[in-house]
Amino acid sequence: MRAVRVEQFGDPGGMVLTEVVVPTPGPDQMLIATEAIGVGGVDAVIRRGTIGGLGFEPGLVPGSEVAGTVTAVGAGVDASWVGRRVWAFTMLGGYADHALARAEHVSPLPENITPVDAVTIGSSGPVAHFALAHAHFAPGESVLVRGAAGSIGIAAVEIAARGGASGVAVTTSSAERGERLRALGATHVLDRSGHGPQDAPAGYDVIVDIVGGPETPDFVDRLAPNGRFVVVGAVAGMPPEDVSARLIRAFRQSRSFATFSLDTIPVPARAVVRAEQFAALGRGDLHAVVHDVLPLEKAAEAHRQMDDGTVFGRIVLVP
Ligand SMILES: NC(=O)c1ccc[n+]([C@@H]2O[C@H](COP(=O)([O-])OP(=O)(O)OC[C@H]3O[C@@H](n4cnc5c(N)ncnc54)[C@H](OP(=O)(O)O)[C@@H]3O)[C@@H](O)[C@H]2O)c1
Repeated sequence: MRAVRVEQFGDPGGMVLTEVVVPTPGPDQMLIATEAIGVGGVDAVIRRGTIGGLGFEPGLVPGSEVAGTVTAVGAGVDASWVGRRVWAFTMLGGYADHALARAEHVSPLPENITPVDAVTIGSSGPVAHFALAHAHFAPGESVLVRGAAGSIGIAAVEIAARGGASGVAVTTSSAERGERLRALGATHVLDRSGHGPQDAPAGYDVIVDIVGGPETPDFVDRLAPNGRFVVVGAVAGMPPEDVSARLIRAFRQSRSFATFSLDTIPVPARAVVRAEQFAALGRGDLHAVVHDVLPLEKAAEAHRQMDDGTVFGRIVLVP
């Protein structure tokens, strides 16, 4: 089968399409013939080699999310899975004709959901849902999604809007992206520094931050009294270490600052929310925003688009 390996960390050109042996599922694993492969921000981070210290070695096959059909199962897995359409979290190994996943990370794919749509919200939808829950978001509250043009941000905007937010502000880099986000439920469009229309809320009850980086403390200052700030991603780098100073300085505002990782959510709970979101997608209550669909052999081009910052939503590879 074909697989895209990162032979050299750094530039997308270090990714090479190679012929490899189809893997055999081990205990508690399933083998999936891929029909769609999500290209996530984390794939780009791994490929750049900036987190090489975490043990990633050249030759790895990236790709944490696929949809397709189960072709084989390992010991301990119900054989009736074979032939079923599924979505799966693979951790690594997704950029290939076949990918392995642990059975607990495989969800059935409803008939009316395409594999491309499934890998667009299969991970990012639950991240957005549980990040808002972690912030104790409640109907009637105002929300700011910082870095809203990616798949997590888009899902957060839609979920907050449909969840009864009094307003959903977004940061984004262009008016055109702002209009697209408005169509998904955003009410106020701010630039990357948080500047926007005069009628934008002065303070937010909830800030979901996918950006991080040096400007993070300035956004902590945008919390309303009792506001909750949740760091979900860090596409602009790690926030500085002095964030708590801003909280202390505004002591009488009772603000909170937290991080959120999906890793802390039990896998069955993620699956329940994913199933609900696939159903919402089928009803048109949630949208999978696909930036582009490219053949597997164009993985490097997909990563170039990610590096150029031109992606709105998600890029999907198809074998
Ligand atoms: N917490 C979890 O459990 C979890 C799970 C999966 C992934 N993640 C994290 O989530 C992040 C990826 O999420 P994603 O795929 O939705 O994001 P993304 O598409 O990579 O980026 C989101 C948006 O942020 C804006 N942006 C990019 N660089 C920026 C900068 N330097 N300053 C300000 N804005 C910038 C861009 O929009 P504009 O150009 O419109 O501003 C971009 O579209 C990664 O950090 C990943 O590690 C977290």
